[in-house]
Amino acid sequence: MANTKTHCIGILTSGGDCPGLNAAIRGITKAAISDYGMHVIGILDGFRGLVENRTVNLDSDVVSGILTHGGTVLGTSRDKPRKMTMGGETLDMTHTAVDNARRLGIDCLVCLGGGGTQKNALHLHKAGGLNVLTLPKTIDNDVAETDISFGFDTAMAIATEAIDRLHTTALSHQRLIVCEVMGHNAGWLALGAGIAGGADVILIPEIAYDLEVISRFLVQRRRSGKKFSIIALAEGACSVDEARIAARAVKQLKKSRKAADGNGGDDIPLVQEPKASRLARHLQRLTGIEARMTSLGHVQRGGIPTPTDRLLCTRLGAKAAELLARGTYNVMVGVKGGECVPIPLQKVAGFKKTVPLDHSLLATARRVGTCLGVI
Ligand code: F6P
Repeated sequence: MANTKTHCIGILTSGGDCPGLNAAIRGITKAAISDYGMHVIGILDGFRGLVENRTVNLDSDVVSGILTHGGTVLGTSRDKPRKMTMGGETLDMTHTAVDNARRLGIDCLVCLGGGGTQKNALHLHKAGGLNVLTLPKTIDNDVAETDISFGFDTAMAIATEAIDRLHTTALSHQRLIVCEVMGHNAGWLALGAGIAGGADVILIPEIAYDLEVISRFLVQRRRSGKKFSIIALAEGACSVDEARIAARAVKQLKKSRKAADGNGGDDIPLVQEPKASRLARHLQRLTGIEARMTSLGHVQRGGIPTPTDRLLCTRLGAKAAELLARGTYNVMVGVKGGECVPIPLQKVAGFKKTVPLDHSLLATARRVGTCLGVI
């Protein structure tokens, strides 16, 4: 057994669940125990479990057989230590979280999650001096400073299969079908699944779309003999007009939050609306072609991870154990150029990786004749 500077770790999963979380929990736990003899504590339901002191012991038996299971055996929540609802009140529970981690003898808290989790982990370190280490988890693939996040490959495979299946029914009925894909404010999932599934139109949040451009494209496509079309719509995508209205609304919301608590509001949520049905309705009216919509929703986050995600999670988990043993803390284990590497959490937390407008995937989509909603 190799030397280790870390003797006890806590692991928690936070934010939306996704396939691969269990594979990552297993990877860290197995490597931490068998290579370094660490004690591993599982914290239930994200940061809430830390505040409420709800834990389980993780050993090789507990994590055995979970590699292929979807979801997270630890449970998850979107709770933040610094703004947690406790008995009807919103309280700053930072110090309770840190004190509980210390009482449990945790040398480093390992947090598996997306953008919000990276921020919460850094906050526990900065405000409470707790050592943390994170892994990038999200089907949105929008965590900064890593080439890829786990969960994304599985979600993209599910969305691609859905688009494949929509093709045959759209063709049979000569319809337009809008398929709404998750991804929050980033277009990676819609772009990836849209290209892989051969969608005719792909709409992403990074490019505000023009309804007239799309409808002209669809009518032209029909005239050229293609009787159906598939539109892959990212949930965060907006038309030019909607983008203008949303920008105004966000400004107002920030202003009112500032007035309410003196904090500019760093996490403005999307207003959740059935965007696909609105878009399908508009396109049917503008083109005269019968339209339908499908919103994939949480189906994209369920079930077994792909082999690519299982490999990624196991590699990230094993690397995390190695870094912990060396005493490397306050980093995210990300992927750069195919290698798992530590990235200072400071460079990750509070940043978002959206699709750059000069990204090669956008050029690829254009080259195969995909409409991206603008000229
Ligand atoms: O971040 C993952 C994600 O699935 C986003 O794509 C989506 O916008 C959001 O979570 C949905 O969150 P919830 O499960 O809380 O409805």
